[in-house]
Amino acid sequence: MAIDYSNRERPYELYRKGKREGTWDPDQYDFEADKDDWEQFSDAEQRRFLATCSGFYDGEEDVTRTLAPYMMALDALDNDEMPFDTVQEEIYLAQQVYEEAKHTDLFSRYFEEVFETQDTEPYREGGYQEQGYSTDDLYDTADELLAAINSGDQRELVYALGEAYLNYMGIVEAQLARGGYLSFDQMIELKAEEMGRETVLESFQTAIGKVRQDETRHIENGRWVMKRLAEAEPDIVQDVYEPRIDEYVQNRLLTGPQMDMPFEGYDQRQIGKQTTQYLQDTIDYIGSDHFDEYGDVRAAVQAQRAAD
Ligand SMILES: [Fe+2]
Ligand SMILES: [Fe+2]
Repeated sequence: MAIDYSNRERPYELYRKGKREGTWDPDQYDFEADKDDWEQFSDAEQRRFLATCSGFYDGEEDVTRTLAPYMMALDALDNDEMPFDTVQEEIYLAQQVYEEAKHTDLFSRYFEEVFETQDTEPYREGGYQEQGYSTDDLYDTADELLAAINSGDQRELVYALGEAYLNYMGIVEAQLARGGYLSFDQMIELKAEEMGRETVLESFQTAIGKVRQDETRHIENGRWVMKRLAEAEPDIVQDVYEPRIDEYVQNRLLTGPQMDMPFEGYDQRQIGKQTTQYLQDTIDYIGSDHFDEYGDVRAAVQAQRAAD
């Protein structure tokens, strides 16, 4: 019996929650009104909105294609030696990979019907993937997991899993995707304001609301596993988590986006503040006192800005 029902762990509870919440279908939304709204965007506004959407479309495909090795790696761990039930986590990830596929499906349909293209490449030039931290990195992460599985070394597996969860759930989902939602919120709100409307791209916002709800579960599960892996191998925090967090801070938080912003009143500082708080939330979940430099993210970032 794989699941001890008297000891259902967080991933299994999140899986049960996902069965109730994650039943939405991208096909249920009608994008006709969104198409009319889209024509009201200027060329510059369209390009900027498409840049973020292209990052998401590519990103959802990347996370869908690179999650399977996480399940294989969990399965290769000695469950009795771990401070959590790897089977319950595998069940959770089985649900997540389906949800990621559905997110890809949503963006694919929106690109087809509203943007009338499937080509993301022209909109990603000059964007974030050239700033040194993007979902492209997840393919290397998946390869490293497969190498650790083949090594059969338990410590190496835990370390590789820790890095993989940090990259995927800790950075891509908790930081990059959530920062992207904040950007959507602002662009849509500012455009609606300019047009004297309550809102624009209403079906997009409703569907993205469902994606965000799914991602909230993905992020919580990821934080929970990172905390458990740090219980199994305490040095993982300074050996793996902290250097990857530092790379993200250098390439993203301290640098900011290098793109023009045609939406008047757009507040990048506010997004920076909120994403800094998201990173603090992840660190607090794992246990901020285990971190050397990033126990207090805001203080660490301010110290680095002052030193530059
Ligand atoms: Fe997703
Ligand atoms: Fe996700």
